[in-house]
Amino acid sequence: MVLRDTLLSWVSADPFVPFKTITTLTVIVVAVLAFTYLILNARDAPSLPRDQLSPPELLGPAGKITHTFFDNQFDFLADGFRTTASAVFRFRLFHNEVMAVSGEEARQTFFREKALNLYQGFQVLIGTIPTGLDPHALSGIYKRLNVLQRPDNLQFLLPRLLLDCHRKMDSWGNEGLLDPTSTVHDVTFQMIVRAVSSFDVADNAALVARLKKFYDIIDASVKPLTTNLAWVPGFATFRKVWASMNVYRIFSKALEERKSSGIKREDALQQLLDSGESSKCIVGFMMGLPIAGARSTGTIGTWLLLFLSHEHEWLAAVRKEIETLISTYTTDPLPTFSPQSIVDVLSRIPLSAWESQTPNLDLCIRETLRRAQPHTAVRKNTGPDIKLGSYTIPSGSFVLYPFADTFFDASVYSEPFRWNPARSLAKEQLFLGWGGGTHMCKGQRLASLTMKLVVAYACLRFKLDLVNHLGQPISEPPVPDMNDFLTCQPKNDCTIKFSERPDWTDSRA
Ligand code: HEM
Repeated sequence: MVLRDTLLSWVSADPFVPFKTITTLTVIVVAVLAFTYLILNARDAPSLPRDQLSPPELLGPAGKITHTFFDNQFDFLADGFRTTASAVFRFRLFHNEVMAVSGEEARQTFFREKALNLYQGFQVLIGTIPTGLDPHALSGIYKRLNVLQRPDNLQFLLPRLLLDCHRKMDSWGNEGLLDPTSTVHDVTFQMIVRAVSSFDVADNAALVARLKKFYDIIDASVKPLTTNLAWVPGFATFRKVWASMNVYRIFSKALEERKSSGIKREDALQQLLDSGESSKCIVGFMMGLPIAGARSTGTIGTWLLLFLSHEHEWLAAVRKEIETLISTYTTDPLPTFSPQSIVDVLSRIPLSAWESQTPNLDLCIRETLRRAQPHTAVRKNTGPDIKLGSYTIPSGSFVLYPFADTFFDASVYSEPFRWNPARSLAKEQLFLGWGGGTHMCKGQRLASLTMKLVVAYACLRFKLDLVNHLGQPISEPPVPDMNDFLTCQPKNDCTIKFSERPDWTDSRA
């Protein structure tokens, strides 16, 4: 989610940067200076005519508000609603007027109003360099992403994604502890790079590892004030631009080499080339989508495994479901148990079965999206003033809707902080796990398949237990840190202990 602004800044990327280094550096310097100027000299926030009612303001020193907003966003927003005793409150961030909204009516308005613009919200409020938006290029990218997620293409990708998953997890060894902030992310990142970019890049483990580092820098730049060099104006911006340029070079090179080699491969890059997309669109697609997809897929994938390591009944149910699929689609006797044989049998399960015959896994994914997704949606009001109950959202202001408002609403989800895939959904008006309105996640199908493959492979190959950092079993559940909107680490001392199962029938969790 962090990545939409980044995606957009890449959509307008020029593929010939290597020939324009001086221009590029000049642009960077000007951008950094312009950004600094904007911060220091921002115009006053839009103000309301006297007859219109403004929501209560959360008062406090600007620096404290900014720090708390980026460092403890969940608490900041919850405290704001509590302190102002209002479902809508406003505050100032970087000289911008921001409205935090909650409640049923606000949610409907938030996702319905076309003037509430996601891209401008992210670029200005969370992103660091405001960039020009090319809606045409963006819709082209989304069209291609749809094509990529067509059944025939996902079916073709399935065994290749499984192989990626196997190679990454094989490097874990026979047993050990996972790092909840990175281990599963590395697996899903590899798989998403495979799906949305070039097989030449995805086949090169060292290159994928470098890419991952650059994307981590870009992701981290959404917290501009938390770096060691926070006092240097535009430092986070500079690092983000530097990392983006490196990512840009990697994908531009992959594009140029493919074009000049005359070799065709059955990957997203080739599809984009064959469909006549411009170099700008192709590079923008490959650069933007891994970050759009990998961070969230890694986070939800990690939490799925964390919860399953604690809730062994669900782990057993999911494993049983996968075993049933294996026996349905494998006519000959099961091969001798080995990591490679897991890939072989899972590859025989068709996409349609992965998508429609895993009800328990579907429930677990859905509940994890609800319980461990610390997302606050951001929009800018690019149209006239909008009415929200008795309040007005002025034109030009920013609006925040924390998904926690719905996800942790006890009147909809009883015991909302408990991970319970079996919960009744009778009162649910709208499930926000993949977003709402026009900006629903565009990569949902790929993300779901990726997570299912990761969980299926992990739970067939390994015994999974929830332990503390010393490897000792713990009985309390893992608790997502909702303030950590970037990595969503566990709040308590817990991680996953994995150890290889001896055979297909091992009944231990
Ligand atoms: C478990 C993984 C994922 C989760 C939980 C997730 C969740 C979301 C959510 C909640 C939004 C809406 C954000 C908002 O309204 O502020 C969104 C948007 C988006 N997602 Fe995902 N996403 C995931 C994976 C992916 C993947 C794999 C891709 C592509 C490869 C992707 C591409 C996008 C794009 C392009 C948008 C912007 C949609 C628009 O602008 O209309 N996502 N995602």
